[in-house]
Amino acid sequence: EHSTGVNGLEKVILREVRGFSAEVYLYGGQVTSWKNELGEELLFVSSKATFRPPKAIRGGIPITFPQFSNHGPLEQHGFARNRFWIIDPNPPPFPTTSTYKAYIDLLLKHTEEDAKIWPHRYEFRLRITLGPGGDLMLTSRIRNTNTDGKSFTFTFAYHTYFAVTDISEVRVEGLETLDYLDNLKNRERFTEQGDAITFESEVDKLYLSTPTKIAIIDHERKRTFVMRKDGLPDAVVWNPWDKKAKALPDFGDDEYKHMLCVEPACVEKPITLKPGEEWKGRQEISAVPSSYFSGQ
Ligand code: BG6
Repeated sequence: EHSTGVNGLEKVILREVRGFSAEVYLYGGQVTSWKNELGEELLFVSSKATFRPPKAIRGGIPITFPQFSNHGPLEQHGFARNRFWIIDPNPPPFPTTSTYKAYIDLLLKHTEEDAKIWPHRYEFRLRITLGPGGDLMLTSRIRNTNTDGKSFTFTFAYHTYFAVTDISEVRVEGLETLDYLDNLKNRERFTEQGDAITFESEVDKLYLSTPTKIAIIDHERKRTFVMRKDGLPDAVVWNPWDKKAKALPDFGDDEYKHMLCVEPACVEKPITLKPGEEWKGRQEISAVPSSYFSGQ
């Protein structure tokens, strides 16, 4: 279902039989909404998000490619999040055994303009699927289409903003005891201590060699987000807290209380593709009542 979003930007709405829905902007190839059967929003989008190119939309699931954060010479988080994607005219076939019905295939290709800052040809195919149980799946396929024989290297993340009731009542499971690079301490390496991750100040960590399943537990709402990932060994956890929130022009001063970014990523060991090679990275998220969740 096609429609027009904020500021005339094109968007696509996916609906699932039980009443879940998702909204995808072609600008950024970005999921900006994921709602359950009660119409409750499960992703955070700032009330100050501008929806105005060339600025990236603050919230939902921005795609960071070909560079995560400032790990390289490109603009922060690369350019994919502020480009206009198109609906893929030639999408990869959908597996016939699958029961997934609501999906959209997007495509981002190199342009001469971008070649000035990142001199490579590529095809980035993004499939966004809303499953029959309401789970949201994003699959990225990135192919090197260089004709000059050159490899390219990139880092990547699904910059997923979860909506939470109260950050001080949130717990993340699956990252305890892991090593991480602390972006607030010059990317120094530490080992996580304690049982589960909780939040009482700014956090900006890159967890390394993470498991394929991570849980984000919103105690107050009795909701657990279960994240599954494939091809993405790292996981970034980010909350700007009060001071950084105030410094962000497109983020409300108190909104840090109601969001948490958990971002499946491939950063520590960047991906290199030879011409003709393809990389695949997947994120699947579901939202379940906490009582249904049986732990790790
Ligand atoms: C996170 C980074 O992924 O994104 C943080 O780890 C960064 O360092 C945050 O501040 C937000 O980035 P931006 O460019 O969307 O403001």
